[in-house]
Amino acid sequence: MSPGAKPSADTLRQYEQLKADIERHQYHYYVLSEPLLPDIEFDRLFQQLLDFEQQYPNLTSAESPTQRVGVKPDDGFTEVVHLQRMLSLDNAFSDEQVHDFERRIHDRLNTAAAIRYSVEPKLDGAAISIVYEGGQLLRAATRGDGQKGEDVTHNVKTIASVPLRLLGDGHPDVLEVRGEIFMPSAGFEAFNARAREAGEKVFANPRNAAAGSLRQLDPSVTAQRPLDIFIYGIGVVEGGALPGFHSEVLQQLQAWGLKVCPEIDVVIGADGCLDYYRSIGARREALPYEIDGVVYKVDGYDLQRELGQVSRAPRWALAHKFPAQEQLTTVKAIDFQVGRTGAITPVARLAPVAVAGVVVSNATLHNIGELLRKDVRVGDTVIVRRAGDVIPEVVRVVIERRSGNPPEVSLPEHCPVCGSDVVCPEGEAVARCSGGLVCAAQRKQALKHFVSRKALDIEGMGSKLIDQLVDSGRVSHFSDLFALTAAELAQMDRMGEKSAKNLMAAIESAKRTTLPKFLYALGIREVGEATALSLANYFGDIEPIISASMDELQEVSDVGPVVAEHIRSFMNQQHNREVINDLLRRHKIHWPKIDKPAADIELPFSGKTIVVTGTPVSYTHLTLPTIYSV
Ligand code: IVH
Repeated sequence: MSPGAKPSADTLRQYEQLKADIERHQYHYYVLSEPLLPDIEFDRLFQQLLDFEQQYPNLTSAESPTQRVGVKPDDGFTEVVHLQRMLSLDNAFSDEQVHDFERRIHDRLNTAAAIRYSVEPKLDGAAISIVYEGGQLLRAATRGDGQKGEDVTHNVKTIASVPLRLLGDGHPDVLEVRGEIFMPSAGFEAFNARAREAGEKVFANPRNAAAGSLRQLDPSVTAQRPLDIFIYGIGVVEGGALPGFHSEVLQQLQAWGLKVCPEIDVVIGADGCLDYYRSIGARREALPYEIDGVVYKVDGYDLQRELGQVSRAPRWALAHKFPAQEQLTTVKAIDFQVGRTGAITPVARLAPVAVAGVVVSNATLHNIGELLRKDVRVGDTVIVRRAGDVIPEVVRVVIERRSGNPPEVSLPEHCPVCGSDVVCPEGEAVARCSGGLVCAAQRKQALKHFVSRKALDIEGMGSKLIDQLVDSGRVSHFSDLFALTAAELAQMDRMGEKSAKNLMAAIESAKRTTLPKFLYALGIREVGEATALSLANYFGDIEPIISASMDELQEVSDVGPVVAEHIRSFMNQQHNREVINDLLRRHKIHWPKIDKPAADIELPFSGKTIVVTGTPVSYTHLTLPTIYSV
């Protein structure tokens, strides 16, 4: 079709619809910080619009989404007119597009000379402009639509890595720096885990978390959020001179106390760019923050000026995107899994989809509260997200793509594994199977915990073996492990006589343990290693813990009412007391006693047992012992 061809009525309708869709998505993305689509889908719509407008240039109106960078600022913040427009970046998704980028640069500069690029991670957060006047932080503003943003000075000042005053000297009178505010991955996961536990709204991804935190009306809320910043460029500079290369300017900014990403480098040519893309790509998951690609920038400012910009983006920069961490797929089924403490986790079974290079076919929905809030139903189209080594999760339903009226998913009344009642205590987001160790799923998880390294440490007792032992009915409780015979073990899959014998020896030596390890191994809710050690040190033996009252338990340094309640309810169950009794009396699980002046006691040490004499005063300290046999 020739440029300027007249569109049909149908085409016009399609075009208007596309514009309206994009506007709606931009509103959800920028204003509500709750995107309806993964970025990759949005980019596809946007590209369709660009293609349309290229085909029918007469169509393009001033208010087309292609004519502006973002959306209008929200209410509640003062508007800031940027001293210099904040641009966006063109995207590339293939090596070929990177070579095309360089070819365009060569053509435009009318040269074949090697081009030097600053190469940088493309951070996934919220763009910010910060103006320093006389070295003092004057104002910080969001990008907004590129021309006008929101004044978020108070919030930005709460971020510890943003200097309120520049270091050193020689700063220009006015210096506008630009960068990205982001929430590091660990902080994001911890923040969402806490919100999820409290049944509060979680953020879809670190980018929304950063943008949402920055746009809090109350700076004390922002101050609680683990935000960080990397500066990646400059805007207006008045009354002072800066170096002629972008990479040198970044070094200067760093010397003035501004935080610059340590991964930034300088390379030559498109091939250098592609090498950088691959090397950062290989380390992407190990970085402590999320990136969605890399950015290539022509390093020389003189060349940048010569290249100039088109409406949305400079010709001298390119974002080369990584495979997306969010994708669309459909829900085939929703199952419920039972964990060690009986927690019931809804899991979505998905039509397999590649997310950031890995095929995902299951995703967690975390807990029943979150499943209901997200209202995920079988057949729904959903956004799945996979980042780093975190379990893939369902972010949200694309509600417009729901067809018909599939039934709501509800919490099963009975445990899918053992049929016991499922309980959901008031005010708790997590539902649990009430079957305890009657439930095979809980039994397996409890046994896996019991034999793990920091617990009784039975080497060779792997997860698959425990599944077999439980499924065959051979093992139900911890104490059954100590009644196993070499002949029985040798019959299990992938077990020979030799490994059975080794395992028997490991089981035997696990009988000699310590009180903290034994307490930890029991798998009482919220009794981790540290709490087990405190309990052991305080009470000195298991019997006083079994009979301790709520008050006595709370005398222990890190035991509060919740943990005390978990310990009491565990010990109150006759069945649990019987298992402990069986382990100690019948199977002779034992540990060195403390708090009794002992002439000689045995202590496990480096895989051996040492016999020491002295008075142990806690599980970490002895009065000067003398070793007299090994
Ligand atoms: S330069 C003139 N460098 O990506 C180019 N942007 O679509 C302006 N971003 O909103 C941006 N990391 O917030 C640049 N190293 C980096 C970046 C980066 C992330 C964001 C930026 C902007 C978006 C561009």
